Amino acid sequence: MNKKKIIVAITGASGSIYAKLLLDNLLKLSDQIEKVGVVMSDNAKEVWRFELGNEEYDNYPFTFYPKMDFNAPFASGSAKFDTMIIIPCSMGTLGRIAHGISNDLISRAADVVLKERRKLIAVVRDTPFSLIHINNMKTVTEAGGIICPASPSFYSLPKSIEEVAQTVVSRVIDLAGLNMDSYRWNEE
Ligand SMILES: Cc1cc2nc3c(=O)[nH]c(=O)nc-3n(C[C@H](O)[C@H](O)[C@H](O)COP(=O)(O)O)c2cc1C
Repeated sequence: MNKKKIIVAITGASGSIYAKLLLDNLLKLSDQIEKVGVVMSDNAKEVWRFELGNEEYDNYPFTFYPKMDFNAPFASGSAKFDTMIIIPCSMGTLGRIAHGISNDLISRAADVVLKERRKLIAVVRDTPFSLIHINNMKTVTEAGGIICPASPSFYSLPKSIEEVAQTVVSRVIDLAGLNMDSYRWNEE
């Protein structure tokens, strides 16, 4: 199996727990992964501090890139990253991607992933959605991206906030083509 090169972008939507769980899961899947590059927006750091009460994003052994670093490898298609996961994805970032406004590393990397016809997974978070949000989701979908809403499921009977949030992250892991044990409906 080819090991994957993955970009994780964390933006300032509510739901830092999704980003934390994804990074935790990727650590456990290191045998399937060649490289993880992470980029956070300023608001992503602020929301993480507010919602999780720490700055533990600094502790992960992945390569972190400043949000305006256009020298990051995945700012160019030549670096051949397979998959980009934006988790959580704010409506602002979604809108910039939908309209090709590549004015930071997150929107540029998404632009590259779409133009190279690679996999973009946007874990969008807001509620309710305006028509602008819905149209932007449609545009990104038509361009080949996958909109994976941060909508947890409950049929696995989760017992904690982490287990609820993991229902979303498990779907993201599946979409990224990584293999991980997780709850499967009606499987033994
Ligand atoms: C605590 C907090 C929660 C937020 N939740 C959301 C959200 O769920 N969805 C969203 O689109 N924006 C949310 N925002 C607003 C975004 O952080 C803001 O629009 C920001 O400009 C997004 O920029 P970014 O995509 O570069 O992080 C939230 C802001 C704060 C401070």
